[in-house]
Amino acid sequence: MARFSLLSAILLHLVVVSMQQGDDETLDIRQRFGSSSVSMINDQIQNEFNAMYLYESMASYFGRPSVGLPGFKKFLKKAANKERERAHKLIDYLNMRGGHVRLKPITPPSKFEWFSALDAAETALGAEKNITQELYRLRDRADMESDPHLVDFIESEFLTEQVTSIRDLRELIARLNKAGSGLGELILDKELN
Ligand SMILES: [Fe+2]
Repeated sequence: MARFSLLSAILLHLVVVSMQQGDDETLDIRQRFGSSSVSMINDQIQNEFNAMYLYESMASYFGRPSVGLPGFKKFLKKAANKERERAHKLIDYLNMRGGHVRLKPITPPSKFEWFSALDAAETALGAEKNITQELYRLRDRADMESDPHLVDFIESEFLTEQVTSIRDLRELIARLNKAGSGLGELILDKELN
């Protein structure tokens, strides 16, 4: 019995030591990477997947034969792929810094039909503005935690691209407003195809 307890104690000690070594390894790469940054990045992964869902849903609508706007479908499908890539980039970043990925449910868009390409573009612009706001919050949190690596990652890999996609959507909305629905929409669709 005594021998068994001694063996159990040794085994337990070995397990604890190996777990501590694992933790130390994790701590090495988690320098300055706080748990609130980890949690905000996990939220951002969800935001990017939500945006991907929104664009996928829009693309499927404009790709319907009864709607017949393949150019807009192509534009929105490209945007959906971009959002998925961004979610993956955040997942890779979390792993690189020793954070843990906790995937959250993806929220479907609030509607599946769009009055027009203008309606969809305005909704997309609203979603992009919200995402940008969240990215600024994440960037500021990283700055507060003196984590320049995360600040640089968000600024260089995400914020510049956000500004560009907001500008592109603004321009598309302006052109859709000028062109009007019907024939104007068809002409712009041809340009996007
Ligand atoms: Fe985006």
